[in-house]
Amino acid sequence: MTLRVKVKEHISRKFDNEIRFFRGWMTGPRSVGAIMPTSGRMARRMASLIDTGSGLPVLELGPGTGVITKAILERGVPADKLVSVEYSTDFYQHLKKSYEGVTFINGDAFDLKETLGSLRDQTFDCVISGIPLLNFPMHTRVSLLEDLLDRMPPGRPVVQFSYGPVSPIIAQPDRYHIKHFDFIVRNIPPAQIWTYSRGGEAAQRKSCTRCI
Ligand SMILES: C[S@@+](CC[C@H](N)C(=O)[O-])C[C@H]1O[C@@H](n2cnc3c(N)ncnc32)[C@H](O)[C@@H]1O
Repeated sequence: MTLRVKVKEHISRKFDNEIRFFRGWMTGPRSVGAIMPTSGRMARRMASLIDTGSGLPVLELGPGTGVITKAILERGVPADKLVSVEYSTDFYQHLKKSYEGVTFINGDAFDLKETLGSLRDQTFDCVISGIPLLNFPMHTRVSLLEDLLDRMPPGRPVVQFSYGPVSPIIAQPDRYHIKHFDFIVRNIPPAQIWTYSRGGEAAQRKSCTRCI
């Protein structure tokens, strides 16, 4: 394949994703919660927090068009070690066709007991989330976080991006730790990456830039 054909294919795939995203936004702007797919840079930064040596599967929430899914696979997570929950049936159908071997579930991340089915008791290495938390009430965000932390070993993170300047989940230092991981200017709009974890204080402090 010539370079010209490769570039053309890349542009057309990117454009397809943007159209698909826009369609999703038109039908459910609150649940999509963004105006553009996540940038490759942000997706790679989020995926960089996965411990590929843990042997545990990764849980992704709100994959949308699959930009973060791709980064997770490129990080070295085998497709059969990725479980990904997407609420929109349209995105879900597209993801299933695009990323063979990944366990996609068309369901609600806020009801994981039901959504995960036979995987409900699975322990995950970490959670990589694109859920638009700011569109949900604070008590719902906190219960989602606590449910996720119950599904991971101590010290492992829930990784969440958000467009606001502060953590989308309130600080409760007696229940979980919050860390600011990165600010991604090369994303539309620019976004912050936050991590949330419980226990494992030593692991916490290692890469902390702003701990709450
Ligand atoms: C900000 S978009 C993520 C964009 C994605 N990273 C991309 O580049 O396409 C939020 C995604 O979360 C999904 N979502 C929203 N609420 C959800 C829920 N309760 N459970 C699972 N997915 C949800 C939306 O359908 C959408 O795909």
